[in-house]
Amino acid sequence: MLVTKTHQVTFKKSGITIEVAEDEYILEKAEEAGMDLPYDCRSGTCTTCMQRCLEGEVDQDLAFAISDEELKEGYRLICIGSPLSDVTLDA
Ligand code: FES
Repeated sequence: MLVTKTHQVTFKKSGITIEVAEDEYILEKAEEAGMDLPYDCRSGTCTTCMQRCLEGEVDQDLAFAISDEELKEGYRLICIGSPLSDVTLDA
């Protein structure tokens, strides 16, 4: 049996922590939790949803619009971003 791992995603500025599975997207779960975060395309092509990741790893396989530099600085697109560990975002 395959069990999808779930991780804690903490929004530091908002003081909110939610549970997000490795096959779910952070933006979607944050909205379900009542958060009002910026987004536009929801497909990794615009960077409107970009947030800085302070701790942990966020999957970015579909992050077409983000530059290597932004990735290096810790920015992640959360509309197509799934947590690969517990994550803290500067949002
Ligand atoms: S909303 Fe466009 S990249 Fe996430």
